[in-house]
Amino acid sequence: MKVARYRAYGSPENIESAEQPDPVAGTGQLLVKVHASSVNPIDWKMAGGHFPFNLVRPGLPYLPGFDVAGEVVTAAGDFPVGARVHSRLPTVRGGASAELVAVHPRDVAPIPEGMSYADAAAIPLAGMTALQGLRDHARLPLAGADGYRVLVVGASGGVGHFGVQIARAAGAHVTGLCSGRNAELVRSLGAHEVVDYTTGASPAAGGAFDVILDCVGSQPATTFTPWLTARGVYASTAPTGATFAWQLFYALTFRRRVRAVMLGPSAADLRWLDGLAARGALRAHVDATFPLARLADAHRMSIAGRTRGKIVIAVAE
Ligand SMILES: NC(=O)c1ccc[n+]([C@@H]2O[C@H](COP(=O)([O-])OP(=O)(O)OC[C@H]3O[C@@H](n4cnc5c(N)ncnc54)[C@H](OP(=O)(O)O)[C@@H]3O)[C@@H](O)[C@H]2O)c1
Repeated sequence: MKVARYRAYGSPENIESAEQPDPVAGTGQLLVKVHASSVNPIDWKMAGGHFPFNLVRPGLPYLPGFDVAGEVVTAAGDFPVGARVHSRLPTVRGGASAELVAVHPRDVAPIPEGMSYADAAAIPLAGMTALQGLRDHARLPLAGADGYRVLVVGASGGVGHFGVQIARAAGAHVTGLCSGRNAELVRSLGAHEVVDYTTGASPAAGGAFDVILDCVGSQPATTFTPWLTARGVYASTAPTGATFAWQLFYALTFRRRVRAVMLGPSAADLRWLDGLAARGALRAHVDATFPLARLADAHRMSIAGRTRGKIVIAVAE
């Protein structure tokens, strides 16, 4: 099978196209022909040795990517040959930049009818991170968040653009913090208010927030905690050591105030997101699509930090 892989750690210059033996489905596993994958910052952070991945680097050659959408070619569980499935691969080392992947049925969800492979590949990792950040860390009630004020920092990025839609679907009042160039996009995703971070305006000028989902991580938690209501929680998908320290500090005082989000992949959560998409309340915004042979360009684009929504990799027709 064709793959795209890092032959050495470092920058996308080290990505090469190569042929590798097809994976063999283990006991009870599906073999999936990958139609599309998507890029997440973790893909190049692992290769680049950004903390903490400098401590736990995958072996070489490294096949980056965690999101796949494709078609079952070896059946298992309830999934027959030809079934359309998607997954955030449950591995710690990626593997999605390949024409075939082996995955257990418990780690996949059926792609809803009418959803393209591109959208199905864009949703898993970023969508689940937004969902778990809001629901599990910030305790946003998904069934009835009327009266909740939610701020999504980095509302135009992969995680943030799903966060805006999930919070809106929950019934919350949503403010998106993004640059002016992305204001229209973020509004179209359901944000009631948009604040342009390049102007230096404070999102809290309109009132305090019950939930702040930070998908950027460029400011310390202490920038945001003064903007919280008494019940408010700040959750960061890009935590630093200080974020963990604040989480611990508040935990020791029996308060939930600062949380570091660490995704735990879950096919049940993916099905939940699919349900939202099927109701028309969630969509992936695909900024660009690259063929597998141009994975290096896709990583360069992600590293630039200006992605609107998601970057998709077209693996097979
Ligand atoms: N902990 C976990 O389990 C987990 C899971 C998923 C992701 N993450 C992390 O979460 C972060 C976000 O991931 P992502 O996929 O959403 O990244 P992304 O798509 O690459 O984010 C890019 C977006 O961030 C916006 N942005 C950059 N600086 C900003 C600022 N100061 N204020 C507001 N918006 C800003 C950009 O908009 P402009 O161009 O307008 O600036 C762009 O739209 C990454 O650090 C990623 O590694 C962690």
